[in-house]
Amino acid sequence: MASNSFGEILRITSFGESHGTAMGGVIDGFPPGVTIYLDVVQQYLNRRKPGQSAVVSQRREADKIEVLSGIFQNKTTGSPIAFIIRNSDQRSADYDAFSNIYRPSHADYTYDKKYGHADLRGGGRSSARETLVRVAAGAFAMHLLKPLGIQVLAYTHQIGNITTNEQFPNITQAIVDADPTRCPDAVAALQMKKLLEELIEHGDSVGGVVACTISGVLAGLGEPVYNKLSAALASAMMGINAAKGFEVGEGFAAALRKGSEHNDAFVVENNAITTRTNHSGGIQGGISNGQPINFRVAFKPPASIARQQTTVDKSGREMQISVTGRHDPCVVPRAVPVVEAMAALVIADFYLRNLVYESFRLKNN
Ligand SMILES: Cc1cc2nc3c(=O)[nH]c(=O)nc-3n(C[C@H](O)[C@H](O)[C@H](O)COP(=O)(O)O)c2cc1C
Repeated sequence: MASNSFGEILRITSFGESHGTAMGGVIDGFPPGVTIYLDVVQQYLNRRKPGQSAVVSQRREADKIEVLSGIFQNKTTGSPIAFIIRNSDQRSADYDAFSNIYRPSHADYTYDKKYGHADLRGGGRSSARETLVRVAAGAFAMHLLKPLGIQVLAYTHQIGNITTNEQFPNITQAIVDADPTRCPDAVAALQMKKLLEELIEHGDSVGGVVACTISGVLAGLGEPVYNKLSAALASAMMGINAAKGFEVGEGFAAALRKGSEHNDAFVVENNAITTRTNHSGGIQGGISNGQPINFRVAFKPPASIARQQTTVDKSGREMQISVTGRHDPCVVPRAVPVVEAMAALVIADFYLRNLVYESFRLKNN
């Protein structure tokens, strides 16, 4: 199985299966001397954890990180950071009934066609349990970004047809985490919670949207052709399980605008060039322009639902399936820290790549 690594200079390799012994990762290229607070890394993992509220999967996992190398006396040493997170609450028997049956719109059919002898207990390698490796790696990357004044914060923008269109200028992680839906709009959050409870009762699921802002990124990250910052973020976000759409700035709504409405006028404030609006979402020509980077990720409804659906088994026999077991009625509340983690990994990698340019530019100016 190829492509278990992500990033260029800051490169993370992930391993493990949902019902195997452990999940884990190796981070290569992490600079030495960065202070790491493992309790903060653990906090990020706890935000992704199943069983954290009544509106997510009830699998019970400690998701406790064990660091094997790369950190000494709370500082990175420059050697690979290796970590594992053990699986403890696998219930492989939940999957016995489906071992020969393809769950509609899950990865079972394509995985089986490609690998033939896959271990599909809990979804195997295609399970969203893999995203905890990304969350841990992203939390390490946050430690690199914080001293640079860069912050990444995501929240639930939409669940089903309930949307929050509020702007949240002073949003914090504590505000986002105050509600199990991770929606900072209390009125919308209440409606979302009610919808999720109804769906759990009826054995169904629903999609939604995560919004994310990266603030404090200076102008200059990203390349104008193949490594546009917007393209790298899109690739990272579309690589998250169940992601079905990505938009930066005004995104698809920009298609409805006139240039006179969409353009971000340049102005000078406090002797610095800035823009009056941020419809571009902080990226122009593939390069960050110094404004907050705003994007959204749309997630489909989880495929595993208790409602009866038509499917086939491996021999092509048609049948009905009801996927019982412990599943999320909507991935969005748990996807919030995953989106943040992937954003942090992209920005940290691009920041390290950019240091090469910076050193040449400083030398030649
Ligand atoms: C945080 C998170 C939790 C998820 N939980 C579930 C779940 O409980 N049940 C399920 O069927 N899919 C769940 N998914 C989605 C599946 O992992 C995903 O749909 C599956 O791997 C197929 O891949 P695709 O949807 O990207 O095509 C979750 C995704 C994320 C990001």
